[in-house]
Amino acid sequence: MNQVPTIKLNNGTFMPQLGFGVWQIPDADAEQAVATALEAGYRSIDTAAVYGNESGTGKAVTGSGLAREELFVTTKLWNGPSQAWGRDEVLRAFDDSLAKLGLDYVDLYLIHWPRPMRDDFLSIWETFGEIAASGRAKAVGVSNFRPADLARLAGAGDLVPAVNQIELHPLFPQAELRSVHAERGIATEAWSPLGQGKELLTLPAVAEIAGRRGRTAAQVVLRWHLQHGNIVIPKSVTPARIRENLDVFDFELADDEMAALDALGADGAGRRLGPDPAGFDA
Ligand SMILES: NC(=O)c1ccc[n+]([C@@H]2O[C@H](COP(=O)([O-])OP(=O)(O)OC[C@H]3O[C@@H](n4cnc5c(N)ncnc54)[C@H](OP(=O)(O)O)[C@@H]3O)[C@@H](O)[C@H]2O)c1
Repeated sequence: MNQVPTIKLNNGTFMPQLGFGVWQIPDADAEQAVATALEAGYRSIDTAAVYGNESGTGKAVTGSGLAREELFVTTKLWNGPSQAWGRDEVLRAFDDSLAKLGLDYVDLYLIHWPRPMRDDFLSIWETFGEIAASGRAKAVGVSNFRPADLARLAGAGDLVPAVNQIELHPLFPQAELRSVHAERGIATEAWSPLGQGKELLTLPAVAEIAGRRGRTAAQVVLRWHLQHGNIVIPKSVTPARIRENLDVFDFELADDEMAALDALGADGAGRRLGPDPAGFDA
């Protein structure tokens, strides 16, 4: 049974709070991984043009036998430095993503990085407004945007991103961005929610709660996100983990357990695993 709660986005559509991320899954393996996730009960899939696996992802989605309206598909514009991103280039990239996915719309289309040094995200966002108006993306949003980037968007027009997908996990809890999102009506989506399956899942504070609850470290971390209201998109190519990561809706962390996990990122320094959006333009 699919017990995943939904989050109401600011465009009125609903997004599952837990979905499946496919970064670093080769195209040839994506169909199998996404099919396993859909069979397990996931209904939201997060891909991106730059992941190179929109085709495999799309095959699993269209071949699943599930009604399109039961599924929530996200992809992202790779607004990279290889070219300029005028209106035509953005529309072409969007068409290309839809074609690879084999879909006539996506549920969410994101600007992948703000790349502030290029100073072009306001015009890209204008074209995203056109895409949203066409209905070919039900919702549009951003990824890796900082508070200052969101303020620039707000100053330029009325279209508020439905989502900002950012690096977020207990070691990098993004308190400031989460409160900015709450003020602006933007849903917070956590990428690398498991800290990429590395150090975070081995920390004594996490292991201690997991042991007490008879749950895995990954499940405890996912509960921390869900109870903070974050949307999460854990990735795995391992069928048992794909199912384990969805099996998190029959227990709750107590306040003291949430506080113990909050304390992991409370030193203020934060530990990013990915690039800092201020300087990222690869
Ligand atoms: N917008 C952006 O810039 C951006 C950047 C990064 C990621 N993302 C999105 O966020 C998604 C998730 O982030 P992520 O892939 O970086 O990292 P993640 O989901 O935090 O962690 C994935 C890693 O953890 C392992 N893992 C998964 N479930 C586990 C479990 N139950 N127990 C132990 N290990 C487990 C996986 O291994 P196996 O696969 O070997 O099982 C994989 O190595 C991506 O797939 C992508 O869709 C977006």
